[in-house]
Amino acid sequence: MTLEQDLAEAIGATHVLTDRSVVASYETDWTGRFSGVARCVARPADTGQTAAVVRACAAAGVPLCIQGGNTGLVGASVPVDGSVLLSTARLTTVDPVDVVSAQVTVGAGVTLAALQRAVRELGLDVGVDFAARESCTVGGMVATNAGGERVLRYGTMRAQLLGIEAVLADGTVVSRLTGLPKDNTGYDVVSLLAGSEGTLGVITRLRLRLVPMLAGRAVALVAVADTAAAVRLVRGLRDALPSLEAAELFYADGLALVREKAGLPAPFADEHPAYVLVECAQRHDPTDELLEVLAAAPEVRDATVAGDVRGRHALWAYRESHTEAINAAGVPVKLDVAVPLPALADAVAALPAAIAVAAPAARLILFGHVNEGNLHVNVLDAVERAEAVSDAVLRLVASYGGSISAEHGVGRAKRPWLALSRSTEEIAMMRAIKNALDPNGLLNPGVLLPD
Ligand code: FAD
Ligand code: MLT
Ligand code: ZN
Repeated sequence: MTLEQDLAEAIGATHVLTDRSVVASYETDWTGRFSGVARCVARPADTGQTAAVVRACAAAGVPLCIQGGNTGLVGASVPVDGSVLLSTARLTTVDPVDVVSAQVTVGAGVTLAALQRAVRELGLDVGVDFAARESCTVGGMVATNAGGERVLRYGTMRAQLLGIEAVLADGTVVSRLTGLPKDNTGYDVVSLLAGSEGTLGVITRLRLRLVPMLAGRAVALVAVADTAAAVRLVRGLRDALPSLEAAELFYADGLALVREKAGLPAPFADEHPAYVLVECAQRHDPTDELLEVLAAAPEVRDATVAGDVRGRHALWAYRESHTEAINAAGVPVKLDVAVPLPALADAVAALPAAIAVAAPAARLILFGHVNEGNLHVNVLDAVERAEAVSDAVLRLVASYGGSISAEHGVGRAKRPWLALSRSTEEIAMMRAIKNALDPNGLLNPGVLLPD
């Protein structure tokens, strides 16, 4: 029997995709920069079927690549040539919400937006949120330890994770879904899988902590002079506003690109060098508190505040449209990094010169999550110089004590530079864990760990 026949027996022939034109739709990443040719796509419906797919690939010695919503930005969600691509698209169960514990167990293929819809009608919410919500899956979010726009209040995806069910490389199922907030019984296998980028197991189900749905919301778009002013402003807002939930940064050139590609009106009468978008959320309307604090902040050059849903979404569009606007301008070299906050302004100032040396004709668009010093460095017209640009940016970031990956992961894009952020001993420890759980390198080869 061929591997395809084994897979068809395990999950049904209609869920083993071999038609080239159908398989092709799984083979290229969101940015258009990374692709690979899969042998076939397998779409299991539950944990048992997932284990059968993994066992069949292990028996045939064929590598397995894992794909959720394929919105990852480091090339880790596309297949290596000749592999089986395991899609989690059918792992979409949402168990009844445990309202007493404020927790829910969901299939790894549930999208963030679907989960938001399911829990919001019960007065609960998901602590992590970002623009890919309609497509990204909770399994992918855990596998990348996604961050996003609310990290300053609720932390990253790892902080929402209370339990996991996963299939290891030999087909073993590990299930730990009780969700006890206190449970000190040895190694934290749940947390280990968060941020493992599909290299240690296929996550099939998750137990997530939920947060209260806060209906009182206000969003402000604030014009500031530069990065240093943005950092000072956010520092002040954090102290003055316990309801602060998001603090995002972008610049004049990013705003111009977003306005051009998305057809948005100018937010202010004048142009400004930099912009901070903030959101406050609490039970009652925070608009007055936010206005009062902004009126007293010396960094504010201009500001506009919205309390109603339409107005809030209109302001968020200036920030959330960056990724699509950049992609519409060409295939970007995307480098998601973090720099300690005191060094953020210096790092931003040093980036253009470092990039110009590596790719003189490149165009830099920067934006990010300012409170975590998380910069999204997007370099256009430089994809042929991707390695030199990545090297320049990641070395610069490391020289400031920063991280080569704040929230997107290492993937295929950054694995040659892992040693800039992790010590030799740490990499050896990670390799030992990988070898213990996946000795034949079956799961997501070429992702995360350098050769
Ligand atoms: P995929 O892209 O399919 O996969 C990502 C990685 O996870 C791969 O290594 C894959 O093999 C692995 N994986 C997926 N599912 C599983 C599973 N069930 N078990 C094991 N491994 C698995 N990211 C942020 O952190 N913050 C942001 O603010 C943010 N904003 C974004 C905005 C846009 C417009 C876009 C396009 C992307 C954004 N991202 C952001 C990146 C991306 O959405 C996240 O990395 C997300 O977590 C990926 O989820 P996914 O389901 O699409 O995973
Ligand atoms: C974001 O914050 O919008 C993202 O992480 C996506 C990106 O970097 O383009
Ligand atoms: Zn981001």
